[in-house]
Formats: sequence, structure tokens, C-alpha cells
Amino acid sequence: MNPLELLNAHRSIRAYAPDPIPEDVLQSILHAATRASSSGNMQTYSILVTRDAERRRALWKYHFEQDMVVQAPVLLTFVADWNRMNRWCRRSDAEPGFDNFLSFLVAFADAMIAAQNAALAAESHGLGICYMGTTLCATTDLIEFFGLPADTFPATTLVVGTPREDPELRARLPLESIVHQERYQPYDDERIRRTYESRETEGWKRYMSFPDLAAKMTSSGVKNLAQVYTQLKYTQADNEEISTELLENLRRAGFLS
Ligand SMILES: Cc1cc2nc3c(=O)[nH]c(=O)nc-3n(C[C@H](O)[C@H](O)[C@H](O)COP(=O)(O)O)c2cc1C
Repeated sequence: MNPLELLNAHRSIRAYAPDPIPEDVLQSILHAATRASSSGNMQTYSILVTRDAERRRALWKYHFEQDMVVQAPVLLTFVADWNRMNRWCRRSDAEPGFDNFLSFLVAFADAMIAAQNAALAAESHGLGICYMGTTLCATTDLIEFFGLPADTFPATTLVVGTPREDPELRARLPLESIVHQERYQPYDDERIRRTYESRETEGWKRYMSFPDLAAKMTSSGVKNLAQVYTQLKYTQADNEEISTELLENLRRAGFLS
């Protein structure tokens, strides 16, 4: 596949064979991750590789018991990391000024861009990947689990392994609803209706195809896909609770001073 074909063929994989990833392939994925652009070429991220089955089992708990975490042979946790850079600055008589929110965002972006490079590299080797958004919901546990020092923060996790499923491409919103020429084009009700029209039916059908989610959808009485998102998947109460924990951990890590 050429690079564009590879990008356009991406699907998240959620079922994996246990086959280990050959060391040279893993090294090539990690190397590609570090070839990503980064702010000032400072590379303010670290990548934690988890292969050990027991440690993956522990991570499975933190990642809301998503089974791919134990199935796939490798987990890559990307961490926003100023710790290394700060130490280098200090030993070079250069007092760092990176204990603030801007610097956190810079490192978080670096970590995410490196993760996406790793994802594409893995896919180019015929492997499957899935991001774990649950990383942001388990920062207290992950900081402890990985022994993360001050000036670092978990950003995301990639599950990587040999696919044991071959899912369809998932639809995207129409390009014209995402792209704005020159100035932001406000959305009126009609444009919103057109933007989400097919998502509403396809997304509903997809979620109803998962027995656990279908049972929840039926018993909770949600009437449409938007309600699935706001009342079942990403509720205000959960979002606020996790945000409180994130802010506390960001403060402890030194990014909110
Ligand atoms: C930051 C991020 C976090 C995600 N977290 C999860 C997750 O915890 N579990 C999961 O099954 N998929 C997760 N995904 C995958 C998305 O659900 C998936 O990318 C989206 O549904 C589109 O499907 P596709 O990747 O197959 O095109 C995540 C994706 C991103 C970018």
C-alpha cells in the first residue's frame, strides 16, 4: 500500500491474535514514532512499552476492562514528558520554564503526534492498533503503575498486535461539514441535520449490534444516537469527575503552577 492508501484503509482493531510482535518490527514502529514532528524538536514525550502478560492484565483493569488490552501482545503508553528536558536544561545552567499549562499542551501534542506515527507504522507492518482513550480516565493509577515522575503525564495508549478481525471502514462525517474555506461557516439546523443524517442511522445500528450496549440502550430509553453519546457513553457527571482528577494530577505533576 502506498502511504495514502494506508491512511485511508485505517480501522481500529479490537480483537487480536496472541502472536508476539517481532523485535525488529517493534523497533521500527518505535523509531517511526520518534521521527514525528515535535515542538522545537524537543521530543517532550516518552513511550512506555508493556509486553509482560501480568502487567497487561493490570492495565486491563485501568482501561475499563477492554479485552484487547490483554489480547494484544504490546501496549504503548505515550506520556507527555518534560522531566528529561528539564534535567538537561538544569545541568546546562539553563533554568527551564516549562511548569505551566502551555508546556503541558505542547508535550501532550508531541505525544499524540508520535502515537499517530506509531499507529501508521504498525499498520504499515500489517498490524492492527486501537487507541485507548481510557488512559485519561486512569491517570492516578497509571502514574503509579509506571512510576511516572513530576513533569510527566499520561497522554494516550496504543494497543498493537496481529488483527483477529477484519472490520468494515467506519464512515466519517461529510468532508464539507468538517472543512471551512477561509472563514468558519456557522452551522444552522439544516446543515447539522445533513451533517449527521447518515451517522445517526449507521451509528445507532452499530451500537445496537453490541449486545451489552444494546441492552443498556433499550433499558435506559435513549431515543437517538446523540442521546447515546450524552446519556450513556460520555455523561456530564463522568466527564466532570474525570476532569477533577485530571486537574488534580496535572497540578501534582507541576503543570498548573
Ligand atoms: C484518542 C482516542 C481514544 C480512543 N479510545 C478508544 C477506546 O478506549 N476504546 C475503543 O474501543 N476505541 C477507542 N478509540 C477508537 C475510536 O473509537 C475509533 O477511532 C473511531 O470509532 C473511528 O473508528 P476507526 O478508527 O475504526 O476508523 C479511540 C480513538 C482515539 C483517537
